[in-house]
Amino acid sequence: MKRLSLFITLILTLSVGIAKAGEGMWIPMLLQYNEKEMQEMGMKITAEDIYSINHSSLKDAIVLFGGGCTGEIVSDQGLLLTNHHCGYGYIQKHSSVEHDYLTNGFWAMNRGEELPCPGLSVIFLREMRDVTAQVLEGITIDTPEDERKAKIDENMKKIKAQIEKETQYKIRIEPFFLGNEYYLMLNEVYTDVRLVGCPPSNIGKFGGDTDNWVWPRHTGDFSVFRVYADKDGRPADYGKDNVPYKPAKHLEISLKGAEEGDFAFVFGYPAHTNEYLPAVAVDQEANLIDPIRVDLRGKVLDIYNKYQEQDPKVRIQYAAKHANIGNGWKKWMGVTEGINHFHGVEKKNEFETRFQEWALGARNRYMYIDLLKDFKKNYYDLKPYELAYTYLAEAGLRIELINFAGRFARLSEVTKDTPQEEIDKMIASLKTASANFFKDYYEPIDREVAAMLLNEYLKAQSADFRPAFLNDIKDVDGYVDNLFNKSMFTDEAKVNGFLDNFKANKAKKLANDPALKVYQSLIGFYRNEVYDHISEINTNIDRLQRIYMKGQMDMQPDKRLFPDANFTLRVTYGKVEGFKPQDGKTYKHFTTLEGIMEKENPDIYDYVVEPRLKELFNNKDYGRYADKDGKMHVAFTASVHTTGGNSGSPILNAEGQLLGLNFDRCWEGTMSDLIYDPDICRNISVDIRYVLFIIDKFAGAGHLIDEMTIVE
Ligand code: ARG
Ligand code: ASP
Repeated sequence: MKRLSLFITLILTLSVGIAKAGEGMWIPMLLQYNEKEMQEMGMKITAEDIYSINHSSLKDAIVLFGGGCTGEIVSDQGLLLTNHHCGYGYIQKHSSVEHDYLTNGFWAMNRGEELPCPGLSVIFLREMRDVTAQVLEGITIDTPEDERKAKIDENMKKIKAQIEKETQYKIRIEPFFLGNEYYLMLNEVYTDVRLVGCPPSNIGKFGGDTDNWVWPRHTGDFSVFRVYADKDGRPADYGKDNVPYKPAKHLEISLKGAEEGDFAFVFGYPAHTNEYLPAVAVDQEANLIDPIRVDLRGKVLDIYNKYQEQDPKVRIQYAAKHANIGNGWKKWMGVTEGINHFHGVEKKNEFETRFQEWALGARNRYMYIDLLKDFKKNYYDLKPYELAYTYLAEAGLRIELINFAGRFARLSEVTKDTPQEEIDKMIASLKTASANFFKDYYEPIDREVAAMLLNEYLKAQSADFRPAFLNDIKDVDGYVDNLFNKSMFTDEAKVNGFLDNFKANKAKKLANDPALKVYQSLIGFYRNEVYDHISEINTNIDRLQRIYMKGQMDMQPDKRLFPDANFTLRVTYGKVEGFKPQDGKTYKHFTTLEGIMEKENPDIYDYVVEPRLKELFNNKDYGRYADKDGKMHVAFTASVHTTGGNSGSPILNAEGQLLGLNFDRCWEGTMSDLIYDPDICRNISVDIRYVLFIIDKFAGAGHLIDEMTIVE
């Protein structure tokens, strides 16, 4: 009996111990531990070629782009590639009716035509150091949480003060492994970044929200920027005398494409994952919270769709809102589906049974014994507050009128003692907010959304878990009509008139606006009834999670675990490969221009095809960018572990040459943020040959290609 269980444990630990191809987001400075596996999978270069502080390496070509995406340098003149959806905001800012770069695309034909992007920065990681010992100095597992926090802050300050003396770089220290390790990053932040080019939206966003998260995919999701520096190559704010930044390294570009099974890796900035949660947390997210968000957002999107289809103006007004709401909506649907299909909760439970046995197996594991029980209790306690928060965010604050009114909360609190300068500042910023809001506001949508959401809110949350104003409502439709008729925030002229003539003695009138009152009721409820509970329970959970992480590491000393994503630079690797989303269905790993022509539909906005693209397709005028099968490959999938923030990241081949730009995942595998399954989790990249084809053949911007280092 004993022997058998030992044998089973061995098999189980072994099968867990073998790294599943594709899983993991690895710290570049520790990549030597992955090198052997990467080379066995086909990699021809070394860990040192990817990350080195002694000589130039691929890391010198990778940036955190605009604080939310990844970009990569592809010429010795600071030319940068990222996704279209990452550059979108900057493209939009430069667009007007006369120069509609969103619709028509934009190409700077020389440096002078490149467009400055105020507010956009890119960050290069210069060096990374393990500072765990210094940060956790004086702390033991029994140190109380407040004391621990204070001590860590103090230690971090000390480290920063010391490093500041020896470096010109920006210092960032982040917890890894949920606070069990700490690393320091030395960063260089460049703030003169200019827009060089982007394809028209019907290439860069082809398939739109309909195809978002979906394979097969045909989106040319790329845009081109350039990083500028002062004449010494140092960061400088925008200036005419700045010169293109000369990187220590820029990426080579392969025109060879990739075959099914080829090794590939992604180098970029994944934002957040939660791979080490207990079963109870995964269950709560996938089976309670996400379905509510999906349901509410689905109903909102239905209303948007109805109006958007009726009126092209409304379609444009609600395009970005639709994209935003729809992105999470589809992703969370995939999370729930994936977790259940993959039996994620059961698998976590099985692991927990083994963990508990292990914890009970030795005296010095005392700190792990009550963990799982404590998790259950805390998640149980969290549930009502998590629900309250979800409804607040997804139902209450989703009503545009209420959200907009909330922007005026501070102004409604000014008194005759508030300095005029401060008031003027508020007014100026509210005027901008108001112009932005009304440009894209369509009241009939918001009324219908408001009535629907308030009904849902009332149905789902009991009286003691909802804001006071809801408890006074007798008839939702009547209430909504009254709210929208009485509030000034539906009327641009009224809002502007009010702002123009604002004086401190009008604050009270503002505070009495019914929409602002609803906002205050929502926020007040959150502040008084929710926030303290959530933050207290989350502090407990963070502590449990940190100890559980350590336990998982102690229990599996031979398994290399990777730290959850935290917006720091990571290497993730796998293979170029398709997948089987369902029984009887197989997805090929690539798509071609043929597919764009198949999807073409001049009546559906997302599927309009540019005449010029059709012409190139009809003439098969692909130049050197065609695959050896003669076709123009557009996108491909790989079993590489990615998440939000990885958008724009380079996907590289065995030689470390650029194959494409990562931009999405297949929704069947979006649960990879919680559990990675190599069978169904796939990232999606646009083929670099399609990117170059569009730049060169479609846009006639071949001068940009001349800057790049192309390997045929
Ligand atoms: N799903 C991708 C990501 O999470 C792409 C989103 C942008 N594209 C779109 N069609 N909305 O960011
Ligand atoms: N589309 C995501 C991004 O913008 C990537 C992903 O979630 O896979 O970062």
